[in-house]
Amino acid sequence: MTKTARAYTNIALIKYWGKKNKRLKLPYTNSLSLTLDRFYTDTQTEIINDKHDIVYMNQNLLDNNQNKRIISYLDTVRQMYSFNEHFKVNTVNHVPTSAGFASSASGFAALAASINETMNLKLDRKHLSILARNGSGSASRSIYGGFVEWEAGNDNETSFAVPIDEHPDIDLSILSVVINKHSKKISSTVGMESSVKSSPFYSNWVTLVSSEIKEIKQAIAKKDVQKIGELAEHNAMSMHALTLSANPSFTYFEPETIKIIQLIQELRQKGVFAYATIDAGPNVKIICTKESIQAVQTYIEQQLSNVTCVVANIGQGIQYI
Ligand code: DP6
Repeated sequence: MTKTARAYTNIALIKYWGKKNKRLKLPYTNSLSLTLDRFYTDTQTEIINDKHDIVYMNQNLLDNNQNKRIISYLDTVRQMYSFNEHFKVNTVNHVPTSAGFASSASGFAALAASINETMNLKLDRKHLSILARNGSGSASRSIYGGFVEWEAGNDNETSFAVPIDEHPDIDLSILSVVINKHSKKISSTVGMESSVKSSPFYSNWVTLVSSEIKEIKQAIAKKDVQKIGELAEHNAMSMHALTLSANPSFTYFEPETIKIIQLIQELRQKGVFAYATIDAGPNVKIICTKESIQAVQTYIEQQLSNVTCVVANIGQGIQYI
């Protein structure tokens, strides 16, 4: 029996939003994330004597519609390594009930790591990051813990994540505020494609990200948490401006998302450390310090009754257990 590969999810502080190559998932810009310790995926794969792959997720056998993205990834892996066999995949997402976390980052990082183990590929972490990126762009960063930068690159060999600081000694905690809504209607893959194609601001985004990446790396080196928070919030709002300015316009925000953004602004006016970041869905991740997180959670829960808060800290890279 092969070992189980465990990968943690990450939140992008400077986000990936747009591909210059769809098949290889090569992004237009670098991005920079923080790996979290609360949300992870455990995956085990076996090589089977069968004409088809079999995929179990959270103990349920996926049908041909549900397993499409994973099967297409396994096809890519077979092509990359001239391999003809099929796999049985068993993957379990460990996210708090109804956390509404899109688990493609931890999911494809754990799957790539598990395939590395099962096929005995002996990939180093750079090549593991490349393999994970072929499943989902953000998965390239979940190979490492702490602060991670994904270098955009120009082809399959040059687009991979690198660790900035895997075990940072920095006072940051993340409060995930989960708005209990049904699953998102527009996937990140589709949303970013539409933004690239039709937002008149897309080229400004590319310029902005290149300067914000430089600034946030300086802030990380100086442990300047306020600067990190400011840059992350500004970058997230700029990404969401690309969805609003796409044609047709769309947004991942729900009314509660806006409400939480306003509550965070109020908290800052009261001198409480809190900055928002939001991915391709309505949930808000609040960047806090160890000192502020309790006050932030209490304030949000007092003002909004239908949300769930989960506290996360800085997490580690791929593990084999
Ligand atoms: C907003 O990695 O899910 O979370 O490469 O198409 O699978 P694909 O997209 P995905 O996009 C993540 C978008 C984001 C920002 C980020 O994580 O950098």
